[in-house]
Amino acid sequence: MNKAYKNVLISKRELKSICKRLGRQISQDYKNKRLLIVCVLKSSALFTADLMRNIKCECKIDYMSVSSYDGTKSSGNIEFKKDIDINPEGYDILLIDDIIDTGTTLEYLKSVLGKKCPSSIKICCLLDKPYSRKTNINADYIGKIIPDKYVYGYGLDYDEKYRNLPFIATLDDNGEGR
Ligand code: IMP
Ligand code: MG
Repeated sequence: MNKAYKNVLISKRELKSICKRLGRQISQDYKNKRLLIVCVLKSSALFTADLMRNIKCECKIDYMSVSSYDGTKSSGNIEFKKDIDINPEGYDILLIDDIIDTGTTLEYLKSVLGKKCPSSIKICCLLDKPYSRKTNINADYIGKIIPDKYVYGYGLDYDEKYRNLPFIATLDDNGEGR
């Protein structure tokens, strides 16, 4: 599948090793805690699934859903779509997202979850684009810092397409990725 895409940024093999590294670190940090993983739909579904397979301590999982992107630009307007079902009181939340860009989405989600009185909240992001941050939010666990380009694949979409690709690719300056 890679061959058809000219701008592969993170290969399937590198994604696997990122999940392994982060999983090992999280398993260590949460071994004596009550871990509740919160996956931000839709784009972190693949990453969360692969990461969870590398988390060896006991955990529960729940899902939240928001949308904030309009084409390839962060709109800044967050539409809340789905809340978690589990009451997180007494749990250590690990909020898992695909990418942190302006930080607006994660700041919002962290504040929504914070009002539910969990014991702690940490953030794990597969990708970090630190160039256009508008908030003080940073991830506690980061898979990889990437250039300031629009990326897709491995859960991330371009116009709702390409989420199924097993690697991450970038759009070039002409808006083309393959
Ligand atoms: P933020 O609120 O600007 O930090 O944007 C966060 C959300 O926008 C992420 O959770 C992604 O779903 C989406 N996003 C940001 N950059 C990209 C990208 O390059 N490709 C696909 N989605 C992106
Ligand atoms: Mg997202």
